[in-house]
Amino acid sequence: MTLTETARAKLNLALHVRRKRADGYHDLETIFAFVEAGDELTLLTDGSGAPMLTIDGPFSASLQQDDENLVTRAARVLGSAAGVTKPIALRLTKNLPVASGIGGGSADAAAALRLLNRHWGLHWPIERLATLGATLGADVAACVWSQTMRGDGRGELLQPVDDAGLAETPVLLVNPGVAVSTAAVFAGWGGVDYGPLADGDPISVAAAGRNDLEAPARALEPVIGDVLDALAEQQNATFVRMSGSGATCFALFASDAARDAAACAIAGANSRWWIMPTRLA
Ligand code: C5P
Repeated sequence: MTLTETARAKLNLALHVRRKRADGYHDLETIFAFVEAGDELTLLTDGSGAPMLTIDGPFSASLQQDDENLVTRAARVLGSAAGVTKPIALRLTKNLPVASGIGGGSADAAAALRLLNRHWGLHWPIERLATLGATLGADVAACVWSQTMRGDGRGELLQPVDDAGLAETPVLLVNPGVAVSTAAVFAGWGGVDYGPLADGDPISVAAAGRNDLEAPARALEPVIGDVLDALAEQQNATFVRMSGSGATCFALFASDAARDAAACAIAGANSRWWIMPTRLA
């Protein structure tokens, strides 16, 4: 039986930066959501001489196939925490642009933790995998869960939120083809705390909220403003925002047809942009 895991793309429906911490990270309040689309991770064989990680797919060229890939690191930390030394061979099909604000490497690492938890028969509960994942990156814990969550702290302190009615909402992801360094965007945050997330259902909270990383990301890559404008011009878009530290932006729609019409219009006007129609998971 072939084991596979989808590394679903992560969206931040809202992302409030509250303060810079002594450890260099920033305290956040965010609503994570996940979409159906993602990278695919597959267990190839039981190892024996095969490279541990091979990468294919449309964005494979942007990644190095080395020991520092987050998938490799995730396999290493889980193996050592669980005392497993068996060789493994994994294939990562990279469908999502890298350094793009939608989880990418974090979702890949989380998929590796879930896949190897199954393959090695560890039966670790998801909470334990998420705690281990948080040592690999601030978003990895949320990506282990891959369900709508409120995140605090660096983004690793998670609480489930009631997302009734959100599943299957049509979403369009648009990236203008520029890679953005998360660390550089956080470094450009202006230091002003514009206040907490509201309480309530995730869409109302998001609509009343912001992405505080939008301004520093746009300062680095002004084309992000063009993407947000292009999405906001789509008559049927019900919600438009940049995700994470950018540059990927997204819009929600009331129907697949409205989303697909927007995808056609935006692709027609911007042939070099990456555009992915999907749905909330
Ligand atoms: O944890 P991760 O490796 O994904 O974070 C990348 C960088 O983004 C960190 O090194 C840090 O500069 C910045 N970051 C931050 N505050 C967070 C999350 C990330 O300053 N809550």
